[in-house]
Amino acid sequence: MSPETKRILLIIGGGIAAYKCLELIRRAREAGFSVRVVMTKAAAQFVTPLSVGALSNERVFTNLFDLDDEREIGHIRLARDTNLVVVAPATADLMSKMAGGHADDLASAVLLATDKPVLAAPAMNPRMWMHPATRRNHALLQADGIHFVGPESGEMAESGEAGIGRMAEPMTILTAIQSLVGSTQRRRESLPLKGHHILVTSGPTHEPIDPVRYIANRSSGKQGNAIAAAAAKLGARVTLVTGPTSLADPSNVTTVHVETAEQMLTAVRRARDADVAIFAAAVADWRVVNASGQKIKKDGKQDAPSLDLVENPDILKTVAHEKPGARPLLVIGFAAETQNVIEHAKKKRKTKGCDWIVANDVSPRTGIMGGDRNKVHLITADGVDTWPEMDKSEVAHRLLERIVDHLAANTGKA
Ligand code: C5P
Repeated sequence: MSPETKRILLIIGGGIAAYKCLELIRRAREAGFSVRVVMTKAAAQFVTPLSVGALSNERVFTNLFDLDDEREIGHIRLARDTNLVVVAPATADLMSKMAGGHADDLASAVLLATDKPVLAAPAMNPRMWMHPATRRNHALLQADGIHFVGPESGEMAESGEAGIGRMAEPMTILTAIQSLVGSTQRRRESLPLKGHHILVTSGPTHEPIDPVRYIANRSSGKQGNAIAAAAAKLGARVTLVTGPTSLADPSNVTTVHVETAEQMLTAVRRARDADVAIFAAAVADWRVVNASGQKIKKDGKQDAPSLDLVENPDILKTVAHEKPGARPLLVIGFAAETQNVIEHAKKKRKTKGCDWIVANDVSPRTGIMGGDRNKVHLITADGVDTWPEMDKSEVAHRLLERIVDHLAANTGKA
């Protein structure tokens, strides 16, 4: 290990989210960290030390009373010979042990013995997270200086359960790791979008029929919001223009709420100094020309009212066709298709005039529209890159990684 390499000691707790640690190890190593792993006994019920060892390329430690370990590398050395201790998943039980200062197994002993910063990524059932005991432990650990990433809200592994308690995605944990222990160079790299302005559109639009009715679509805004949140975490100034959704505004993002496509275009024009524009909104293609100022009544005598539709402005196309200088350096569109996804998306990239298209299949069977996961193809002038299915927050991180690379290559600024 070169003296420059930063070491993470990853403590894997016994929860269903433990499987995400395999991806975390892989991503952390790709980012240049060396990863040494301690697993609790319960963790080994969810992932095997063998697969963890294969990914970390190091011996995996599980037992406090392994005399060989104590001779070769005791728990005190394990605890100190690192730049950061990461606990993922930090289960309710592990948090309780940390808060109480227990040391009855290797994981808790290391956590008590360490003098290095500790980052915890909690994961548990929402009721366990909200339980007064966990609330107390969380507050105690925060007061002790433990850093936290997540938990996030969403569906749980248990069917029908939802709420706060999902472990943060591996890329989100990695970003937190980088901001805690990057070398000077890495610290700068952890905010690679500093100085850039990124515009994101998200959600559906609502096109009024009368004051109480509107035309809408099933877009949840999750993918666009995740992109805005991820861009802000990488240091960008972010403007999110969103149609109506049930999502909370992301942190450190200027969020502009609009209803109609025309309002969205106006808000997008106001953010014209953006150097990257990502159009994830599902904008209604048409609006009603003869929208009524009053609620349309059914009086039993008249025929059903007919709606005259007119095409909405194409926001993506408008921005992508701005003159050089007024046009963002990188314009990215989305293509939600239900058949011949790649073929349609390739055509769309040309007709819209954008640089990249993120294409996905939104047939109802995929569950993508409104769901938490996504499977996309990134279409650029160089070809098609098909990504595996992953959480929308991970799609966001991957897309931003590509954007960072593109800006670095084309502006020398990132
Ligand atoms: O034409 P289609 O709706 O399939 O195009 C999808 C892409 O174009 C998305 O990026 C969407 O945000 C953008 N779009 C837009 N304004 C419209 C229609 C689509 O910005 N009126």
